[in-house]
Amino acid sequence: MDTILKITDGIYYVGVNDRDTHLFENMWPLPKGVTYNSYIIKDEKNVLIDTVKISKVNAFIEKIYDILDGGKLDYLVINHMEPDHSGAIETIMHEFPEMKIVGNKKTFEFLKALYDIEDNLYEIKDGDEIDLGKHKLKFFLTPMVHWPETMMTYEITDKIIFTGDAFGGFGSLDGGVFDDEVDIEYYENEIRRYYSNIVGKFGPMVQRAMKKVGGLDIEIVAPTHGPVWRSNPGRILELYDKWSKYETEEGVVIVYGTMYGNTEKMADYIARCLADEGIKNIRVMNSSNTHESYIINEIWRFKGVILGTNTYNNDIFPPMEKVIINLAHKGIKNRVFGVFGTYGWSGGGVKGIVEYINKNKWEMVADPVEVQFSAKEESYEKLRELAKAMAKRIKEN
Ligand code: FEO
Repeated sequence: MDTILKITDGIYYVGVNDRDTHLFENMWPLPKGVTYNSYIIKDEKNVLIDTVKISKVNAFIEKIYDILDGGKLDYLVINHMEPDHSGAIETIMHEFPEMKIVGNKKTFEFLKALYDIEDNLYEIKDGDEIDLGKHKLKFFLTPMVHWPETMMTYEITDKIIFTGDAFGGFGSLDGGVFDDEVDIEYYENEIRRYYSNIVGKFGPMVQRAMKKVGGLDIEIVAPTHGPVWRSNPGRILELYDKWSKYETEEGVVIVYGTMYGNTEKMADYIARCLADEGIKNIRVMNSSNTHESYIINEIWRFKGVILGTNTYNNDIFPPMEKVIINLAHKGIKNRVFGVFGTYGWSGGGVKGIVEYINKNKWEMVADPVEVQFSAKEESYEKLRELAKAMAKRIKEN
């Protein structure tokens, strides 16, 4: 079976699809699957760039042997040690025992700690190069995009940058591998969900990495997940630049927790009031049945966030609390927010949200609106005021 997928002369794609895993990192839903991308450069010295999750090692090895066609691997470059990319290292070492593993000091610390591997190492430093013959590799250390050891590998001759997690996204590659072979809009939402939940916390480090490689002449961006960008690499660089600077679009995400619908009714009323104010991008999301990764994805996109909860055991409703804790984890900057909610006999839900979100240093656009059991006429007026204040503030952006 011909499985060889050429990127340029001598450079091949050997990534694999994973449509079996339900949760990436055992946390993030994968309704559209995911890929673990890997690449081979065939030259006087043959190089494999990154590996795949161990569950997909058989399909991976098959592709490698097809391309090498009797040849051997001289180097394995490890851009990132997270097991979705390092899982097959031991197998590859077993298949090619003379191969050298290329990484930085931190890579090798993790290699030893994760797999007890400490032989056949070739340590590189920031800016080092390896000559393969026709092709030449140059290494750029890009810590915390997404782990401390992460680096990018630039192939100088064909101007391809192998970026690890950076510029990647969720979604299996169903036939098409390159950006010009797929409906890229189908992928962009999943690329942002990937960015916002996996890499987004490290926005300043992403910015630092982008500045470091920004001066390179880049024709192809080859990440470890999702499409390979060869027709319009500028598009994914532009998106990452925008997301890592916490830039926003005009719109409001309303997230609520509710047990019997009273808090939901308030959420719907606020949404209607926002529409009256001319806001078109409004997302109303139920924390009980929406995984927080989808909520964070929308919040990464829009400027306004309105959070509502009923009170549960004098505190935030647990499904809503899960969202709030995740929001605090991500450290999203440059958002404005409002809060609303209900209580029965003692409060705590609204207060809990305000305390958490204040840690993010977001600007509150209006006083919280909190009602006993369900909203009455005067509270609807306050909800409308909240919506008006939010609409006015996000239009100033
Ligand atoms: Fe795709 Fe941070 O691993």
